[in-house]
Amino acid sequence: MSNETAVVRNEGELGHVNGHANGVVERASAASDLRGIAVVGLGYWGPNWVRNLYSARRARRIVACDLDSRRREHIQHIYPGVETTADFDRLLDDPDIEGMVIATPVGTHYRLARKALESHKSVLVEKPLAMSLAEASQLVRVGREVGRVLMVGHTFLYSSPVRKIREIVDSGELGDILYISSTRANLGLFQHDVNVTWDLATHDISIVLAIMQRMPEAVSCQGQSHYNSRIEDVALMTLHFPRNVIAFVHVSWLDPNKIRRTTVVGSRKMLVYDDTAPQEKIRIYDRGVNVQRYYDTYGEFHFSYRYGDICIPRLEESEPLQTECQHFVDCICNRATPLTDGLNGLQVVAVLEAANASMRRGQTVALEEIRV
Ligand SMILES: NC(=O)c1ccc[n+]([C@@H]2O[C@H](COP(=O)([O-])OP(=O)(O)OC[C@H]3O[C@@H](n4cnc5c(N)ncnc54)[C@H](O)[C@@H]3O)[C@@H](O)[C@H]2O)c1
Repeated sequence: MSNETAVVRNEGELGHVNGHANGVVERASAASDLRGIAVVGLGYWGPNWVRNLYSARRARRIVACDLDSRRREHIQHIYPGVETTADFDRLLDDPDIEGMVIATPVGTHYRLARKALESHKSVLVEKPLAMSLAEASQLVRVGREVGRVLMVGHTFLYSSPVRKIREIVDSGELGDILYISSTRANLGLFQHDVNVTWDLATHDISIVLAIMQRMPEAVSCQGQSHYNSRIEDVALMTLHFPRNVIAFVHVSWLDPNKIRRTTVVGSRKMLVYDDTAPQEKIRIYDRGVNVQRYYDTYGEFHFSYRYGDICIPRLEESEPLQTECQHFVDCICNRATPLTDGLNGLQVVAVLEAANASMRRGQTVALEEIRV
């Protein structure tokens, strides 16, 4: 069977939406940069990739792949012109497919991403890159060997608030970072293959590493499973950085409220990022503690607290996944290294692996230098 017949070309519906038979193909050709791109996994998250790739119009062909026919039909129905297939291996042999987005369950990331890289495709793997440091390192190595892009879906690093926080921290406005506290909690969605750290904390760890611009030296973590004996639904981890800087990450699928809040406390100012706020997601508080340097009697020894202005920086309105999607295509076209490259994915996996080891052993786990 040729590649043409292996995929479902949904051309019958092209004219319906685009006004002529080859709507997407012709519309895309003027501005397209890639011959083709595939999205593997059309469950909860994959369709967001299809939507963004579809609207970005940077690939002449978009192929959506899932083992489940209902998911393929769902995509065909919404996006006429997007081809569908159940056969991942056929995509590997398709010379038009230059990039692949892997949005399948975490346990399948390594196997699918490795096959794609070995078939000389550029690959974006949804977060987390893999289920272990060994697997993640192997993907980075294979990516280097074949000279293709390996990118990981640390979506928040493409969001306006997180990019703004990095800018603010880099400018020195907050002073020295004293600690970071990040909470990501809500009721659901319980996962079946990974615990809450691999699911939710991946985001917070990627944000904390981006703010700190370095790896922690050690990680400790406690967690508990209440509904599935092997899969923790709530966890609290502490990342220990040099000079006594710590970052707390609290994640839960078992919380009455949806909380997405990161607080960065600096020696000069403090910043709160609330991702659930409809607008004004970042507030910078000119607040802090002053310690009297000189005093004559014990009674004069005191702290004074500074309650200054609150500043709300202006944020560009953009969908993080659209920015990430454009960046992936740019990196493929220019053979550039992505912001969230394989090494960045590997660093987050290293922290997650150490956190899970800490949770099992009940002790703090030191992180070793990463060598690939
Ligand atoms: N970046 C983000 O903000 C974000 C948000 C949610 C999920 N994710 C990530 O996206 C990935 C998918 O999560 P989800 O919640 O959509 O999962 P899901 O279980 O809802 O969907 C996974 C889909 O993959 C399909 N699939 C499994 N193996 C396949 C194979 N070999 N070939 C083709 N299709 C296959 C399944 O049939 C299913 O439809 C995970 O890695 C998750 O961590 C990322």
